[in-house]
Amino acid sequence: MLFQKALTSAARIATRSHQFRSPLTSFSRLSSTMAPKLRDPSLFKQNVCYVNGEWIPAKSGKTFEVHDPATEQLIGTCPEFTAEDTRLAISHAETAFESFRHKTGRERSKLLRKWYDLVVENADDLATLITWENGKPTADAKGEVTYAANFFEWFSEEAPRIYGDTIPSSIPGNRVITIKEPVGVCGLITPWNFPAAMITRKIGPALAVGCSVVVKAPGETPFTPLALAELAHRAGVPPGVVNVVTASENTPEVGKELTTNPTVRKISFTGSTPVGKLLMKQCSTTLKKLSLELGGNAPFIVFDDADVDLAVAGAIASKFRSSGQTCVCANRIFVQRGVYDEFASKFAAKVKEFKVGNGFENGTTHGPLIHHKAISKVEEHVRDAEKKGAMVLLGGNKLPDLGPNFYEPTVISGMKVDMAMASEETFGPVAGLFPFDTEEEVVRIANNTTVGLAGYFFSRDLERVHRVAEHLEVGMVGVNTGLISDPASPFGGVKESGFGREGSLYGIGEYQVTKMVTYGGMGKKLQS
Ligand code: SIN
Repeated sequence: MLFQKALTSAARIATRSHQFRSPLTSFSRLSSTMAPKLRDPSLFKQNVCYVNGEWIPAKSGKTFEVHDPATEQLIGTCPEFTAEDTRLAISHAETAFESFRHKTGRERSKLLRKWYDLVVENADDLATLITWENGKPTADAKGEVTYAANFFEWFSEEAPRIYGDTIPSSIPGNRVITIKEPVGVCGLITPWNFPAAMITRKIGPALAVGCSVVVKAPGETPFTPLALAELAHRAGVPPGVVNVVTASENTPEVGKELTTNPTVRKISFTGSTPVGKLLMKQCSTTLKKLSLELGGNAPFIVFDDADVDLAVAGAIASKFRSSGQTCVCANRIFVQRGVYDEFASKFAAKVKEFKVGNGFENGTTHGPLIHHKAISKVEEHVRDAEKKGAMVLLGGNKLPDLGPNFYEPTVISGMKVDMAMASEETFGPVAGLFPFDTEEEVVRIANNTTVGLAGYFFSRDLERVHRVAEHLEVGMVGVNTGLISDPASPFGGVKESGFGREGSLYGIGEYQVTKMVTYGGMGKKLQS
């Protein structure tokens, strides 16, 4: 009965929505632009990777093409590294580690701070590269550069404050201390959705504690990581401490080398759960330390007692950030029946204000998805929901006249738990609204998934706030906010969303080993 009511109200909103859907689309369309210009063109590195402080091609000379997701035009080409090329980078990182680990925390701090300053100075160019290869609008790209730089700032401040412990021994005459040592050479494998921030979030703590790194840049967005490498060079990071390699079709081979080479002591990966499982299996051959930040299926819950306007703003931010392409994006929006209609209509009205287009165009709020596969998944989820009885309130179609990678921001009402979107991460601009009745029911459904990265809920009841935060099976909870990412906060998941924490004081420990030293024969009487 209540569900019927929700559908009826959904239909009402849908009718209203259809009134503002033009025959083409209800969203503004912006035409594509030409290739952008950088203030400092030397930040754009083609056909070379950064290894041991030098720019080198793949030994084979082979390259791969990188395309602008908005226009599908060629941006440039990058080296197709092999396992052999990667081994070279690892061996230079090993050599560099031996001296870098002995620098003082203060020295490492200064290097990170210098790198931070250069990222800030070159923020416009870095943002241009991000928009060009990832597609996100310039304002979002600038936001990402700030977010990325802040990891360097945060960890530059942590570097001089790495303390061990003194431990009261249970054995008389013994004294026990711990020393926090860098784990060694780290392999960092990063995704395309945050071409700068997912790299700095890993390199920051690694360098702060004295590790050296080999970064595998994503094939879709390699130019931002290579520009960061150029800035590392200018900051005076010693040769071999930071190496950035690229590959596209050879990605599995490069990943295998990083995860099986005995010199590499730690892997940090951000990406999908299936790839994370494969990398973990490969790492088991040499028992590497591992951090995995994998897929999510974030519940976003709006209780009857919520501030609905705040919840709408939170849902917009969480669901549509980077056009829905983040691991912490709301994937299932649960709305209690008492506020369902109000939330749905206010939410759809806000989504209707979006301007979809090329990220370089003034006024664009949402850019393209990264590639065709992403569009296909979104399309599958929308059609599956429709087939199973949900109602598309807004959007629901590709935008082929903008380009093959554009999709309308979409709002769907009357979602049910048997729909694909309930169990799979959509990773696109589609918001499915699920009605619910009770707190117990929604928490049970929210937790009924194999992953647990982020979860959000809106409520003004203090007891409920504590209760629900404690019962959600996720690594991160946003209460009355849709944005939780912050270099000062521990980022990471539970269940099949992986393990390990990035950012914050906890992020440091992921790159350290704790060495215990016991001193015997101590505590005797003073010599007279
Ligand atoms: C991610 O999508 O993996 C990271 C998102 C964030 O740091 O906010």
